[in-house]
Amino acid sequence: MLHFNPIEMSVPEVHRLLVGGIGPRPIALVSTISNDGIFNLAPYSFFNTFGANPPMVAFSPARRGSNGTLKDTYNNLIETGECVIQSVTFDIVSQVSIASGEYPSDVDEFLKSGLTPIDSDIVKPKRVKESPFQMECILKQMINLGDKNASGNLALCEVVRFHVAEDVIVNGTIEPNLIDLVSRMSANYYCRASGDAIFQLEQPNVKIGIGLDQLPEAIRNSKFLTGYELGRLASIQKVPDEMQLENFVKQFKDEKPMLYENDKMAFQRYLRLKDLVKVIHFSLNIDSSEKNNCLTKSAKLAIELDQIDTAWLLLMLQS
Ligand SMILES: Cc1cc2nc3c(=O)[nH]c(=O)nc-3n(C[C@H](O)[C@H](O)[C@H](O)COP(=O)(O)O)c2cc1C
Repeated sequence: MLHFNPIEMSVPEVHRLLVGGIGPRPIALVSTISNDGIFNLAPYSFFNTFGANPPMVAFSPARRGSNGTLKDTYNNLIETGECVIQSVTFDIVSQVSIASGEYPSDVDEFLKSGLTPIDSDIVKPKRVKESPFQMECILKQMINLGDKNASGNLALCEVVRFHVAEDVIVNGTIEPNLIDLVSRMSANYYCRASGDAIFQLEQPNVKIGIGLDQLPEAIRNSKFLTGYELGRLASIQKVPDEMQLENFVKQFKDEKPMLYENDKMAFQRYLRLKDLVKVIHFSLNIDSSEKNNCLTKSAKLAIELDQIDTAWLLLMLQS
């Protein structure tokens, strides 16, 4: 482990640590307007939501790292008290990146990025047509966090109108693969939140898990199970009992033997194919020192396939 004292570091070094360790960060594409009526658009990834009643979001238009001056977004917000914040999708991210260029204050980044300004319902700043998620906002509070280069400012904004594209909503929920959001990581890295990057974990609001402290020692200290896997095992409400274990073994014994090769190479192949039934058959029937190893690998596959009870039963069969 490396240890750092921020007081002994340069500001760019501190910034590099923060943006490397805190991520992926959602990106606010912030639209404002100056008192002179010049439109402004810029991305801000020090951004999140902080409450639903009232709906609050916050982002940080920091002082410039190079000379400590304030950004146009900050100045416009102070002048007018209004902005529109939109989510950034993969489709528009390269245009958003162009909008982040340090153009002079009288340059409209809608023109530079080619993104389309459309009227808002309540506030004066324009919305970005191409973004499927837009929030009209009123500035509630601007908190200044310092007056040096790269000092932050926290703009706390209340959302007064949401605009959401119908085609990203399924059963009332915004579907991650449809909205295809991107987020910011360290250096030039972004992260696309779709496809394999997306997974689900049931929220333990009603069904509270047993917790890692209730895992048997052998499972908790296993060299072969990751923290993620232990967490999944600890998320069940009740450890399977002996009866369930007996039924499980019986079910596999009673089933007609399937046609499959019974050697170690075949086991590896079934694992790769994620064929849990064949992997379990193999593990239950192998009569050798490899049995525990096969049961663990089968349990890992069961967790990957979201079959946590099965994973427990397999681990309970270890000797
Ligand atoms: C993806 C991305 C995220 C950014 N996040 C921030 C941020 O959180 N805070 C900040 O001050 N600047 C951030 N920037 C830099 C600003 O977008 C940049 O300084 C921009 O020129 C500010 O524009 P403005 O002066 O028109 O407000 C980010 C840039 C990119 C590309």
